[in-house]
Amino acid sequence: MKVLLIGGGGREHAIAAAISRSKKNPQLYAAMNKKNPAIAKLCTDFLLIKETDPMIVDYAKTKGIELAVIGPEAPLAAGISDMLWNAGIPVVGPRRLAAQLEFDKAWTRIFMKKYNISGLPEFRVFRKGESGTDEYIDEIKDVVIKPAGLTGGKGVRVMGDHFEIEGAKEYAKEVLKNDNLVIEERLIGEEFTVQAFVDGSALAFAPAVQDHKRAFEDDKGPNTGGMGSYSDSKDVLPFMKDSDLIEAKKIMTDAVRAIKKETGIPYQGILYGQFMATRKGISVIEFNARFGDPEAMNVLPLLENDFLEVCVAIVNGTLGRLKVTFRRQATVCKYAVPEGYPDDPVWDSEVIIGDINDALLFYSSVYEKHGIVYTTGSRALAVLGMAETIRDAERKAQAGLSGLKGKLFSRPDIGSDQLILKRIHHMDELRNRG
Ligand code: AMP
Ligand code: GLY
Repeated sequence: MKVLLIGGGGREHAIAAAISRSKKNPQLYAAMNKKNPAIAKLCTDFLLIKETDPMIVDYAKTKGIELAVIGPEAPLAAGISDMLWNAGIPVVGPRRLAAQLEFDKAWTRIFMKKYNISGLPEFRVFRKGESGTDEYIDEIKDVVIKPAGLTGGKGVRVMGDHFEIEGAKEYAKEVLKNDNLVIEERLIGEEFTVQAFVDGSALAFAPAVQDHKRAFEDDKGPNTGGMGSYSDSKDVLPFMKDSDLIEAKKIMTDAVRAIKKETGIPYQGILYGQFMATRKGISVIEFNARFGDPEAMNVLPLLENDFLEVCVAIVNGTLGRLKVTFRRQATVCKYAVPEGYPDDPVWDSEVIIGDINDALLFYSSVYEKHGIVYTTGSRALAVLGMAETIRDAERKAQAGLSGLKGKLFSRPDIGSDQLILKRIHHMDELRNRG
């Protein structure tokens, strides 16, 4: 089977590895911005191209591609999925109208309200140029300000973390010059992610994962694309109640049904729900129309099914007939990122990849020249530990990191006992206060 993967980061390396493990005799092709050396090695052929460029469709036709898998959000927002389907190539990755769930936060909040999907915080949408933000910020006070469009994870600003009232008012006005805006109440709790395969109606859920957005230990420092993530050997995380996951799954199932009603388009691909477990229950932070990066690296290596079989079921609408299962192991994923990341990262710095012990290694934003691996300004390499417990998985991840040498840093606290206990105590404290 000839499969085209679009995207070239760590998440896509995890997808490429899952495709390569298939028994369906896959021949992998890739379309990526920059050459990811590890993905390139798994490919029959690859094209270096902007991941939103419609020429990808011509490439797919020329190569006789039978299935495409889209990793990142930008090609979904650019309608690459629609173009491939129109050319007769089935795609794992929702068409543009369905992918709005990710790339238009204003649309999504209004959509959730219209279809009575639970987990909706107090919010208001402001259109480009509209006034009244000062009054709304004064009313809600503890606010989060979200540009409606894609900002690469860097546009959302949170009261207390990024600004106080006056700063929030300024930021809202600044965003409104160029984009629509959502202002919503700040939720307090613990975040978790649930990812699901979706065939338009059926959903198959992966275990919950928690990402760590802040650059430095103890959740300090600037926001990043995600420094690392963990999952437990069961579907919920240690700070979660089973009912939290049940609620999250219901919200995602309701959203998939409502998308079909609202747009007429079945949602086919990966749905990523970002939730906050709060004192009062589960709230939706956002939806993404793709796997998370790093969260894909936690769940894909645990998948017991043939990933390509799952992909075929997604595009054929037969996922409901497939029993999708994940190995009952805990995972800890940690990114090694260039010193100075994300504000002032060292570029073009050599990385030596030595013995990573029992960990798995994923290549993200690195390039290879004359057999030597170099950093770019973004997250470089990720290691994944898998074991019976989070503690052992964490040790394996650390042992993996010890094999990477260069001007890099990572977060030793991700998956540590101390951090897990902190999350549990935080949730206990919030729930007891209620
Ligand atoms: P997003 O780009 O929507 O994922 O937002 C980035 C980050 O901002 C999230 O991972 C949360 O940590 C934070 N965030 C977004 N919305 C809220 C909210 N309503 N309350 C508290 N934090 C939020
Ligand atoms: N790790 C967060 C994301 O992929 O959106």
